[in-house]
Amino acid sequence: MQYEQIQRDYLARINTKLQSYLDAVQEKSIVSEAMAYSLMNAGKRVRPVLALAFCEMLGGDVQAVLPFACAVEMIHTYSLIHDDLPCMDDDDLRRGKPSCHKKFGEAYALLAGDALLNLAFETAFGRFDTVESDTALTCGRILSCSAGIDGMIGGQTIDLMSENTAISIEKLKKLHALKTGALISAPCQIGVAAAHGSEEDMARAKAFAAAIGLQFQIVDDILDITGSAAQLGKPIGSDSENHKSTYVSLLGLEQARQDADALRKTALDVLEVYGEKAAFLKEMTVALTNRDH
Ligand code: IPE
Ligand code: IPE
Ligand code: MG
Ligand code: MG
Ligand code: MG
Repeated sequence: MQYEQIQRDYLARINTKLQSYLDAVQEKSIVSEAMAYSLMNAGKRVRPVLALAFCEMLGGDVQAVLPFACAVEMIHTYSLIHDDLPCMDDDDLRRGKPSCHKKFGEAYALLAGDALLNLAFETAFGRFDTVESDTALTCGRILSCSAGIDGMIGGQTIDLMSENTAISIEKLKKLHALKTGALISAPCQIGVAAAHGSEEDMARAKAFAAAIGLQFQIVDDILDITGSAAQLGKPIGSDSENHKSTYVSLLGLEQARQDADALRKTALDVLEVYGEKAAFLKEMTVALTNRDH
């Protein structure tokens, strides 16, 4: 199968499964509506696709890793809802539509984010019907660690504390590795765990994710300046408006582009050992560097 075809197949599986988890919510309310609004709203699904692709590359069952892939997307979506709140980045547009708090108000947006975080763990731990319980536990541990204070939340904390200050490049890399890299590493590791990959596979997944995680946020920082709101589905200029420390504010556009290219190369090198089996992930890595949204 061609890259585009596999991508379409993965997206269809992910979106159908995500919708099924929302349908199963019993307490329908403005909060469940807000959850569906943000979750089913034109996200690129980079993270769940990574879980499926790693699992498949290692000979695992894509259907088995799907609930955990969906759980990562739920956590990611919650992080976006909270990231857009007036007390954080104060952005009014997300995934091409008014941000969750613009549509439903801050209180319900806060609860929708919280509920998606919990739904992620309900999804991962609710039923062990696709993987054995020890694999589910491993995936749950990866999920919780990447989302928490030593992961995404830790990164968001550094992000806020770095507004209006010049931080070192080392600190910026840590910021990016945590706020974005952690939730990109999680699905790669989960894909390996679900496929019962080796320790070497796990180490490679982490090395690959460290490269594309940083690269992903560098490109996000570049697009905040060079992109358009219509393409991105979110406002541009948000970083400078909030006086953020970004890759571009610290190193300039040219250096940012060069570093993103170098990281793409690092990521591709890590995949080399898998030969043809890594064809999809290799194409995805290139597409992520060249993305315009
Ligand atoms: C945006 O993530 C936030 C970052 C971590 C850069 P994505 O660019 O993956 O956003 P969606 O999921 O496609 O909306
Ligand atoms: C956010 O980084 C990363 C998250 C943990 C949500 P940004 O604030 O740069 O993400 P965008 O640009 O709003 O999507
Ligand atoms: Mg932010
Ligand atoms: Mg933001
Ligand atoms: Mg950004």
